[in-house]
Amino acid sequence: MEEKEISQAVVARLPRYFRYLGELRDQGVERISSGELSVLMGVTASQIRQDFNNFGGFGQQGYGYNVDYLYHEIGHILGLDEEHQLVIIGAGNLGQALANYVNFEKRGFLVKGVFDVNEELVGRQLRGLEIMHIDRLESFMKEHKIDIAVLTVPKDGAIETAKRLADCGVKAILNFAHVDLNVPEGVQVENVHLSDSLMKLSYNIHRYENGHGS
Ligand code: NAI
Repeated sequence: MEEKEISQAVVARLPRYFRYLGELRDQGVERISSGELSVLMGVTASQIRQDFNNFGGFGQQGYGYNVDYLYHEIGHILGLDEEHQLVIIGAGNLGQALANYVNFEKRGFLVKGVFDVNEELVGRQLRGLEIMHIDRLESFMKEHKIDIAVLTVPKDGAIETAKRLADCGVKAILNFAHVDLNVPEGVQVENVHLSDSLMKLSYNIHRYENGHGS
């Protein structure tokens, strides 16, 4: 099939479809219509059909979607049928929490190395991995095929570290530092700002309390 440009809005919705389909599959559900999926997920059936049409539709009209097939197809589109090797840069609160999160592994995201500048942390064990000094980054990256870096350092060091990671050939950065990274084209960056979600919640609380409904 010819590759067509898919909007990032559609891409952003795929993990949620994948999650719901995984749960349905675990429950032994074999088929689901866009209408049923729409009720379950709280999105319109036409949105679901439009999203899926970007990839050829997946289903048969009137017969619903084959849950297992759709789960695997969306997983394939998301690149989840390959394993991804990760490093975490910054073994503080956030870095440690992420390294300890087992569900990444279940999805094929394997943490292979954790780095920090703090000598007190270097050498400590974090889920079977020894925290390494950031000075070892380049040699480690030469020896391992790492495609994703998780950046959980303060914003001061983040830009420099991202550049080093890009020079080492990392393909993508999950950036928690509150700063825009300046990386070469071809390095994918996903910024995570949990405070943005809190601000959205704050806005919606006020909106609701002021009687505008949800
Ligand atoms: P933390 O202070 O517990 O950990 C940061 C770690 O990074 C420390 O261990 C420090 O030694 C290490 N570090 C500093 N410079 C480094 C470098 N150049 N190379 C390697 N390691 C280095 O901080 P915490 O709570 O883990 O937060 C980490 C960062 O994430 C902070 O910048 C914080 O503002 C940000 N943050 C972002 C959130 C988001 O939603 N985007 C949510 C929470 C925190």
